[in-house]
Amino acid sequence: MNPLVAVAGALVAATALPYLAYLALYALVSPSGSPADKREAEPTVSIVLPTYNESGIIEQKLDDIVSLDYPMEKVELVVVDSSDDETPDRIEEFFADREHPDLNLIREQERRGLAPALNDAYAAADNEMVVKTDCDSYVADDALREAAANLADPDVAAVTGQNAEVLGGSEVEAGYRGVQAHIQTLESHLDSTLIFHGPFSAFENDAIVPVDPNSLADDTELALKIRRSGDRVLFDPAVRYKEASHSDFSKRRLQKDRRGMGLIRLLAQHRDALGRYGNYGKLVLPFNWWFMVVSPWLVALDVLAVTAAGIAVAGVAGLAVPAALVGFVWIGQKDLLGPLQALYAVFDSQVSLLHAAVELLRGKGDGTWEVDEELREAFE
Ligand code: GDD
Ligand code: MN
Repeated sequence: MNPLVAVAGALVAATALPYLAYLALYALVSPSGSPADKREAEPTVSIVLPTYNESGIIEQKLDDIVSLDYPMEKVELVVVDSSDDETPDRIEEFFADREHPDLNLIREQERRGLAPALNDAYAAADNEMVVKTDCDSYVADDALREAAANLADPDVAAVTGQNAEVLGGSEVEAGYRGVQAHIQTLESHLDSTLIFHGPFSAFENDAIVPVDPNSLADDTELALKIRRSGDRVLFDPAVRYKEASHSDFSKRRLQKDRRGMGLIRLLAQHRDALGRYGNYGKLVLPFNWWFMVVSPWLVALDVLAVTAAGIAVAGVAGLAVPAALVGFVWIGQKDLLGPLQALYAVFDSQVSLLHAAVELLRGKGDGTWEVDEELREAFE
């Protein structure tokens, strides 16, 4: 056999093996729903909403919040705002003749980035359950109740949920979220999940600690720190939200690659957690290290090695390999891959994570970013 073919085959097998092992583990555990001992509960709630120039959508977001199925006398809204548009005025107008929920509007003097803003908001939050939500997302009516039911389990101190409907209809995102929901359900049944989602993350107030002011993965960082202090942090598919997303290859790069940077940096900062904290450090963190840190480089190597092997065996015709990959990306980003769409979504996330790693190595990773206007349009 041509040695290049052997190398390419070995590399592809090495890339696939951990995924297959994880699939086998999934089949063994066959997890479903939240592993928490859920009980009906109605704690007081602080909803934390960070805003930066959201005047176009803020009223819809506030409508969504006040119409949640929950007694609004038990809710306070903590907004931390760094806008230089009319967002804070719109918020005050909205609450002018409304008795509940209570409003605590923190006006920042200047934009410092999301993480420091959230640290201030969390410090100001007075109620038992603290729910962080992004402005460009809708939350399901029963999400507060579902979250509270998870936190009622004494072992559980944080819970996040799933993107149940991708606004704007991106199949790439829907495919990715589907795969991710399975992974996060398994992680939660093994012990705890890693990734917490900006549109809806709920924490017990007592468990909250400050996040790194430079964090680009604030929700996940907080959950990870809470798990390190001893409590479980779970993903519950019954906690649902809606968020907009793109399919287009280049548009996805902006937001996804930044989120990837935040996650990789966080894993590196907490590398000492590997192997500790039960299955969280023994299985969940290693799998995430594999998926986010190692696998993207291997996938890139696979593409190079398979191309080289193709050329070695078939000459110029070997270029069919990269051409097929370009075709796969082209059709995938147009949402036209049908049953293969989820596979493309995983590939797309690997591209994000590789690019994110390169950007981090180049010293990038600033805590302020351009808000994506097009995603705001999909929200309306
Ligand atoms: N106060 C404040 N200051 N709010 C901000 C700032 C800021 O500098 N930057 C963004 N926000 C607000 C936005 O108005 C929005 O409500 C929320 O934070 C999320 O910002 P998006 O622009 O929608 O970013 P995203 O959808 O990619 O955010 C996700 O990734 C972040 C990490 O990169 C979310 O999951 C965030 O929670 C997460 O921190
Ligand atoms: Mn957003």
